[in-house]
Amino acid sequence: MSQSPLLAVEHLAVNFPDHQVFQDLNFTLQRGRFLSIVGENGAGKTTLIRTLLHQLKPSAGAIRFFPDRKATRIGYVPQFRNLDEEYPLSIRDFISLNLSGIHLPWLSRKERAAVKEALRSTNLTALAKRPLGMASGGEKQRAYLAQALVEQPNLLILDESTASLDNMMKYELLDLVKKFNHEQNLTVIFVTHDLPLAKQYADEYLLLRRDGYELGPIAELPEDALISERGGAAAHA
Ligand SMILES: Nc1ncnc2c1ncn2[C@@H]1O[C@H](COP(=O)(O)OP(=O)(O)OP(=O)(O)O)[C@@H](O)[C@H]1O
Ligand SMILES: [Mg+2]
Repeated sequence: MSQSPLLAVEHLAVNFPDHQVFQDLNFTLQRGRFLSIVGENGAGKTTLIRTLLHQLKPSAGAIRFFPDRKATRIGYVPQFRNLDEEYPLSIRDFISLNLSGIHLPWLSRKERAAVKEALRSTNLTALAKRPLGMASGGEKQRAYLAQALVEQPNLLILDESTASLDNMMKYELLDLVKKFNHEQNLTVIFVTHDLPLAKQYADEYLLLRRDGYELGPIAELPEDALISERGGAAAHA
């Protein structure tokens, strides 16, 4: 596989007023790779993602994108969304939300084709008109993924996207992500507490610990990566 970096994290530190999340974090993510970020609750996984998305400012160091941030389209599926049953948008309109307008007549032909393809690839075509608030947990997750994919990102970030899914749905969702990863060289960052899932799908791992971090090929992810230093059980998501 040819090596071409998508981003480089250099001497990165993020501090909040009362506490330091990580410091001197360094890694490079090559295009087309599938990176799993693991670590216990509070280890800094979401903080790192938010820093990559420029939602948080580094306290030190930098994140460099190649050729630059503008050329890097990021599809992001956040860890939490507050959607209740009353959420009015249909699955189709939700997927279109970040495009030029949420009302389909204002979408360009190309955008309409992209929405159709996102619905098809996530197996949501038959449910396109269903209000998202009424969709099941697994259907919602597929809709979130479709919304991230519709903009044809070159980096897809999933923060615990499988945490609320049953086993079959987890594998279905990640099979789909892996397909985009393989067929379109989509670079993937997958945050999870599910080590077997990370082992099955990722190429490499970044393990955030309270006192540092580890990086490596996924085959070398320690079995006890999420056993806390206090000797407690692994965190569950
Ligand atoms: N805006 C903030 N202000 C202050 N502290 C914060 C802020 N955001 C996160 N933190 C703290 O930083 C630490 C890392 O939080 P983060 O959300 O990155 O953890 P995480 O690894 O994603 O955990 P989880 O597995 O529970 O999702 C936590 O101790 C959290 O309380
Ligand atoms: Mg988190």
